[in-house]
Amino acid sequence: MKSASTDTSRISVSAHYTGYIWYKHGLSARGFATQAGRFANATLAPVNALLRVLAGADIDIFLLQRHSVIDHQVKELIEQEGVTQIVELACGLSPRGYRLKKAYPQLRYIEGDLPAMAARKRKLLEDIGLSEGHEVYECNILQPDGEHSLGALMDKLDPTQPTLIITEGLVNYFELSEIREVWSRMATSLKAFPKGWYITDLYPDFADHPSYRYVKFAQRLVGLFTRGQWPLHYPNDQAIQDGFRGDGFSKVDVLDPADFYGKLSNLPEVKIQTLVRIIKAEVSE
Ligand SMILES: C[S@@+](CC[C@H](N)C(=O)[O-])C[C@H]1O[C@@H](n2cnc3c(N)ncnc32)[C@H](O)[C@@H]1O
Repeated sequence: MKSASTDTSRISVSAHYTGYIWYKHGLSARGFATQAGRFANATLAPVNALLRVLAGADIDIFLLQRHSVIDHQVKELIEQEGVTQIVELACGLSPRGYRLKKAYPQLRYIEGDLPAMAARKRKLLEDIGLSEGHEVYECNILQPDGEHSLGALMDKLDPTQPTLIITEGLVNYFELSEIREVWSRMATSLKAFPKGWYITDLYPDFADHPSYRYVKFAQRLVGLFTRGQWPLHYPNDQAIQDGFRGDGFSKVDVLDPADFYGKLSNLPEVKIQTLVRIIKAEVSE
Protein backbone atom coordinates (compact mmCIF):
# COMPACT_ATOMS: atom_id res chain seq x y z
CA MET A 1 0.00 0.00 0.00
CA LYS A 2 1.22 3.47 -0.92
CA SER A 3 1.57 5.85 2.05
CA ALA A 4 -0.14 9.24 1.77
CA SER A 5 3.18 11.10 1.81
CA THR A 6 4.48 9.43 -1.34
CA ASP A 7 1.23 9.84 -3.30
CA THR A 8 2.01 12.89 -5.42
CA SER A 9 -0.34 11.99 -8.27
CA ARG A 10 -2.01 15.43 -7.93
CA ILE A 11 1.06 16.70 -9.86
CA SER A 12 0.30 14.53 -12.91
CA VAL A 13 -2.18 17.08 -14.31
CA SER A 14 0.80 19.30 -15.17
CA ALA A 15 2.13 16.64 -17.57
CA HIS A 16 -0.96 17.13 -19.73
CA TYR A 17 -0.17 20.82 -19.99
CA THR A 18 3.51 20.43 -20.88
CA GLY A 19 2.73 17.45 -23.13
CA TYR A 20 0.37 19.65 -25.10
CA ILE A 21 3.00 22.41 -25.38
CA TRP A 22 5.57 19.99 -26.83
CA TYR A 23 2.96 18.81 -29.33
CA LYS A 24 1.80 22.32 -30.22
CA HIS A 25 5.35 23.34 -31.06
CA GLY A 26 5.99 20.39 -33.34
CA LEU A 27 8.09 18.32 -30.94
CA SER A 28 5.88 15.24 -30.86
CA ALA A 29 3.14 13.25 -32.55
CA ARG A 30 -0.63 13.66 -32.17
CA GLY A 31 -0.99 10.88 -29.58
CA PHE A 32 1.01 12.90 -27.04
CA ALA A 33 -1.63 15.65 -26.90
CA THR A 34 -4.56 15.07 -24.55
CA GLN A 35 -7.92 16.78 -24.14
CA ALA A 36 -6.87 17.86 -20.65
CA GLY A 37 -3.72 19.47 -22.06
CA ARG A 38 -5.67 21.24 -24.80
CA PHE A 39 -8.19 22.50 -22.23
CA ALA A 40 -5.50 23.74 -19.82
CA ASN A 41 -3.73 25.52 -22.64
CA ALA A 42 -6.97 27.24 -23.71
CA THR A 43 -7.74 28.18 -20.09
CA LEU A 44 -4.34 29.81 -19.67
CA ALA A 45 -4.55 31.74 -22.96
CA PRO A 46 -5.41 35.06 -21.21
CA VAL A 47 -2.49 34.57 -18.77
CA ASN A 48 -0.18 33.92 -21.69
CA ALA A 49 -1.43 37.01 -23.49
CA LEU A 50 -0.76 39.12 -20.39
CA LEU A 51 2.71 37.63 -19.98
CA ARG A 52 3.56 38.43 -23.58
CA VAL A 53 2.73 42.09 -22.88
CA LEU A 54 4.47 42.27 -19.49
CA ALA A 55 7.44 39.95 -19.94
CA GLY A 56 7.75 39.74 -23.72
CA ALA A 57 7.26 35.96 -23.65
CA ASP A 58 4.66 33.45 -22.51
CA ILE A 59 4.69 30.15 -20.61
CA ASP A 60 5.26 28.18 -23.83
CA ILE A 61 8.49 30.07 -24.50
CA PHE A 62 9.82 29.52 -20.98
CA LEU A 63 9.02 25.79 -21.19
CA LEU A 64 10.58 25.48 -24.64
CA GLN A 65 13.76 27.10 -23.37
CA ARG A 66 14.37 24.49 -20.69
CA HIS A 67 13.33 21.63 -22.98
CA SER A 68 15.67 22.75 -25.73
CA VAL A 69 18.74 23.18 -23.49
CA ILE A 70 18.12 19.80 -21.83
CA ASP A 71 17.87 18.19 -25.30
CA HIS A 72 21.14 19.80 -26.31
CA GLN A 73 22.94 18.58 -23.20
CA VAL A 74 21.56 15.06 -23.65
CA LYS A 75 22.67 14.91 -27.29
CA GLU A 76 26.17 16.06 -26.31
CA LEU A 77 26.41 13.27 -23.74
CA ILE A 78 25.29 10.69 -26.30
CA GLU A 79 27.60 11.92 -29.05
CA GLN A 80 30.65 13.00 -27.06
CA GLU A 81 30.58 10.88 -23.91
CA GLY A 82 29.10 7.67 -25.29
CA VAL A 83 25.94 7.56 -23.17
CA THR A 84 23.95 4.52 -24.31
CA GLN A 85 21.33 4.28 -21.55
CA ILE A 86 18.92 6.94 -20.39
CA VAL A 87 16.36 6.86 -17.59
CA GLU A 88 13.84 9.69 -17.82
CA LEU A 89 11.95 9.97 -14.56
CA ALA A 90 8.60 11.75 -14.26
CA CYS A 91 8.47 11.42 -18.03
CA GLY A 92 4.81 12.45 -18.22
CA LEU A 93 3.79 13.01 -21.83
CA SER A 94 7.21 14.23 -22.89
CA PRO A 95 8.20 13.11 -26.39
CA ARG A 96 11.95 13.25 -25.65
CA GLY A 97 12.36 9.46 -25.58
CA TYR A 98 10.32 9.08 -28.76
CA ARG A 99 12.46 11.66 -30.56
CA LEU A 100 15.78 10.38 -29.23
CA LYS A 101 14.98 6.78 -30.15
CA LYS A 102 14.32 7.94 -33.71
CA ALA A 103 17.63 9.81 -33.85
CA TYR A 104 19.67 7.18 -31.94
CA PRO A 105 17.95 3.78 -32.41
CA GLN A 106 20.69 1.95 -30.49
CA LEU A 107 19.84 3.85 -27.29
CA ARG A 108 18.22 2.08 -24.34
CA TYR A 109 15.56 4.52 -23.15
CA ILE A 110 13.63 3.82 -19.97
CA GLU A 111 10.81 6.13 -18.90
CA GLY A 112 9.35 6.14 -15.41
CA ASP A 113 6.36 7.84 -13.82
CA LEU A 114 3.59 7.21 -11.29
CA PRO A 115 1.29 4.26 -12.11
CA ALA A 116 -1.53 6.02 -14.02
CA MET A 117 0.82 8.22 -16.03
CA ALA A 118 3.20 5.33 -16.77
CA ALA A 119 0.27 3.24 -18.06
CA ARG A 120 -0.95 6.11 -20.24
CA LYS A 121 2.54 6.73 -21.62
CA ARG A 122 3.16 3.04 -22.35
CA LYS A 123 -0.16 2.81 -24.19
CA LEU A 124 0.45 5.91 -26.27
CA LEU A 125 3.95 4.75 -27.23
CA GLU A 126 2.61 1.30 -28.09
CA ASP A 127 -0.06 2.90 -30.28
CA ILE A 128 2.58 4.93 -32.11
CA GLY A 129 4.91 1.94 -32.30
CA LEU A 130 7.21 1.33 -29.35
CA SER A 131 10.72 0.62 -30.62
CA GLU A 132 13.05 -2.00 -29.18
CA GLY A 133 14.95 -0.73 -26.16
CA HIS A 134 12.25 1.80 -25.28
CA GLU A 135 10.42 0.85 -22.09
CA VAL A 136 8.06 2.49 -19.61
CA TYR A 137 7.80 1.49 -15.95
CA GLU A 138 6.05 2.63 -12.81
CA CYS A 139 8.47 4.56 -10.65
CA ASN A 140 7.90 6.77 -7.64
CA ILE A 141 11.00 8.85 -6.96
CA LEU A 142 10.06 9.16 -3.28
CA GLN A 143 10.29 5.44 -2.66
CA PRO A 144 13.75 4.65 -1.29
CA ASP A 145 13.48 0.97 -2.15
CA GLY A 146 11.12 -1.67 -3.49
CA GLU A 147 9.68 -2.63 -6.84
CA HIS A 148 8.81 0.91 -7.94
CA SER A 149 11.90 2.70 -6.66
CA LEU A 150 14.61 4.37 -8.71
CA GLY A 151 17.00 1.60 -7.63
CA ALA A 152 14.75 -1.05 -9.16
CA LEU A 153 14.69 0.88 -12.44
CA MET A 154 18.47 1.30 -12.49
CA ASP A 155 18.91 -2.44 -11.86
CA LYS A 156 17.40 -3.07 -15.30
CA LEU A 157 20.38 -1.37 -16.96
CA ASP A 158 23.74 -2.69 -18.14
CA PRO A 159 26.30 -1.74 -15.44
CA THR A 160 29.11 -1.51 -18.03
CA GLN A 161 27.52 1.39 -19.97
CA PRO A 162 27.69 5.19 -19.49
CA THR A 163 24.30 6.19 -18.12
CA LEU A 164 22.19 9.31 -17.76
CA ILE A 165 19.17 10.15 -15.59
CA ILE A 166 16.90 13.01 -16.69
CA THR A 167 14.10 14.84 -14.92
CA GLU A 168 12.22 17.82 -16.31
CA GLY A 169 9.52 19.82 -14.58
CA LEU A 170 9.73 17.71 -11.43
CA VAL A 171 12.12 18.90 -8.76
CA ASN A 172 10.34 22.10 -7.70
CA TYR A 173 7.27 20.15 -6.62
CA PHE A 174 9.20 18.96 -3.56
CA GLU A 175 10.73 20.61 -0.53
CA LEU A 176 14.49 20.85 -0.87
CA SER A 177 15.21 18.33 1.90
CA GLU A 178 12.91 15.79 0.25
CA ILE A 179 14.29 16.16 -3.28
CA ARG A 180 17.88 16.16 -1.97
CA GLU A 181 17.29 12.67 -0.62
CA VAL A 182 16.23 11.68 -4.15
CA TRP A 183 19.34 13.34 -5.63
CA SER A 184 21.55 11.44 -3.18
CA ARG A 185 19.95 8.17 -4.23
CA MET A 186 20.50 9.10 -7.88
CA ALA A 187 24.20 9.85 -7.28
CA THR A 188 24.64 6.58 -5.40
CA SER A 189 22.99 4.51 -8.12
CA LEU A 190 24.88 6.28 -10.94
CA LYS A 191 28.18 5.35 -9.28
CA ALA A 192 27.51 1.72 -10.29
CA PHE A 193 28.20 2.70 -13.93
CA PRO A 194 31.57 3.58 -15.54
CA LYS A 195 30.28 7.14 -16.12
CA GLY A 196 27.07 8.67 -14.83
CA TRP A 197 25.22 11.96 -15.23
CA TYR A 198 22.03 13.58 -14.07
CA ILE A 199 20.34 16.43 -15.96
CA THR A 200 17.44 18.46 -14.63
CA ASP A 201 15.86 21.87 -14.80
CA LEU A 202 15.62 23.83 -11.54
CA TYR A 203 13.85 27.06 -10.61
CA PRO A 204 16.04 28.84 -8.06
CA ASP A 205 15.09 31.34 -5.40
CA PHE A 206 17.22 34.24 -6.72
CA ALA A 207 15.38 36.94 -4.75
CA ASP A 208 17.29 39.91 -6.24
CA HIS A 209 17.02 38.65 -9.83
CA PRO A 210 15.31 41.10 -12.24
CA SER A 211 12.81 38.40 -13.34
CA TYR A 212 12.02 37.21 -9.82
CA ARG A 213 8.44 38.55 -9.93
CA TYR A 214 7.66 36.34 -12.93
CA VAL A 215 8.90 33.26 -11.13
CA LYS A 216 6.86 34.15 -8.04
CA PHE A 217 3.86 34.50 -10.34
CA ALA A 218 4.62 31.07 -11.87
CA GLN A 219 4.94 29.68 -8.35
CA ARG A 220 1.39 30.75 -7.50
CA LEU A 221 0.03 29.55 -10.84
CA VAL A 222 1.63 26.11 -10.68
CA GLY A 223 0.63 25.76 -7.01
CA LEU A 224 -2.99 26.53 -7.89
CA PHE A 225 -2.99 24.22 -10.90
CA THR A 226 -1.50 21.24 -9.04
CA ARG A 227 -3.11 21.95 -5.65
CA GLY A 228 0.13 22.08 -3.72
CA GLN A 229 3.44 23.79 -3.11
CA TRP A 230 6.05 24.63 -5.75
CA PRO A 231 9.06 25.76 -3.70
CA LEU A 232 12.04 27.49 -5.32
CA HIS A 233 15.44 26.06 -4.46
CA TYR A 234 18.79 27.68 -3.62
CA PRO A 235 19.66 31.39 -3.52
CA ASN A 236 22.45 31.41 -6.17
CA ASP A 237 24.44 29.27 -8.64
CA GLN A 238 27.17 28.58 -6.10
CA ALA A 239 24.66 27.24 -3.59
CA ILE A 240 23.25 24.96 -6.31
CA GLN A 241 26.74 23.62 -7.04
CA ASP A 242 27.52 23.11 -3.36
CA GLY A 243 24.19 21.37 -2.81
CA PHE A 244 24.64 18.86 -5.61
CA ARG A 245 28.21 18.17 -4.52
CA GLY A 246 26.87 17.52 -1.03
CA ASP A 247 24.44 15.02 -2.54
CA GLY A 248 27.29 12.98 -4.04
CA PHE A 249 27.94 14.50 -7.48
CA SER A 250 31.56 15.35 -8.26
CA LYS A 251 31.16 17.87 -11.09
CA VAL A 252 28.21 20.23 -11.39
CA ASP A 253 27.44 22.61 -14.27
CA VAL A 254 24.75 25.22 -13.70
CA LEU A 255 23.58 26.39 -17.11
CA ASP A 256 21.57 29.46 -18.05
CA PRO A 257 19.51 29.11 -21.27
CA ALA A 258 20.60 32.63 -22.24
CA ASP A 259 24.18 31.37 -22.62
CA PHE A 260 22.95 29.28 -25.56
CA TYR A 261 21.26 32.11 -27.47
CA GLY A 262 22.37 32.07 -31.09
CA LYS A 263 23.86 28.58 -30.70
CA LEU A 264 20.76 26.35 -30.69
CA SER A 265 18.36 26.58 -33.60
CA ASN A 266 15.24 25.66 -31.59
CA LEU A 267 15.91 27.84 -28.54
CA PRO A 268 13.51 30.80 -28.37
CA GLU A 269 15.13 33.96 -27.04
CA VAL A 270 13.54 36.35 -24.57
CA LYS A 271 14.45 39.92 -23.68
CA ILE A 272 14.05 39.50 -19.93
CA GLN A 273 16.67 37.58 -17.96
CA THR A 274 16.00 33.89 -17.67
CA LEU A 275 15.58 32.37 -14.27
CA VAL A 276 15.40 28.66 -14.90
CA ARG A 277 18.69 26.79 -14.63
CA ILE A 278 19.67 23.50 -16.22
CA ILE A 279 21.86 21.37 -13.99
CA LYS A 280 24.27 18.81 -15.42
CA ALA A 281 25.76 16.81 -12.56
CA GLU A 282 28.30 14.05 -12.98
CA VAL A 283 29.47 11.33 -10.65
CA SER A 284 32.92 9.84 -10.70
CA GLU A 285 33.35 6.11 -10.07
C1 LIG B 1 5.25 18.87 -14.93
S1 LIG B 1 5.04 17.17 -15.27
C2 LIG B 1 6.49 16.96 -16.28
C3 LIG B 1 6.34 15.89 -17.28
C4 LIG B 1 7.48 15.82 -18.31
N1 LIG B 1 8.74 15.61 -17.67
C5 LIG B 1 7.50 17.07 -19.15
O1 LIG B 1 8.44 17.86 -19.01
O2 LIG B 1 6.58 17.23 -19.97
C6 LIG B 1 5.47 16.36 -13.74
C7 LIG B 1 5.49 14.84 -13.80
O3 LIG B 1 5.97 14.32 -12.55
C8 LIG B 1 5.28 13.11 -12.29
N2 LIG B 1 5.43 12.81 -10.85
C9 LIG B 1 4.84 13.44 -9.81
N3 LIG B 1 5.22 12.89 -8.65
C10 LIG B 1 6.08 11.88 -8.96
C11 LIG B 1 6.80 10.92 -8.18
N4 LIG B 1 6.70 10.91 -6.85
N5 LIG B 1 7.58 10.03 -8.83
C12 LIG B 1 7.66 10.03 -10.18
N6 LIG B 1 7.02 10.92 -10.98
C13 LIG B 1 6.23 11.83 -10.36
C14 LIG B 1 3.87 13.42 -12.73
O4 LIG B 1 3.08 12.26 -12.89
C15 LIG B 1 4.14 14.19 -14.04
O5 LIG B 1 4.19 13.31 -15.12
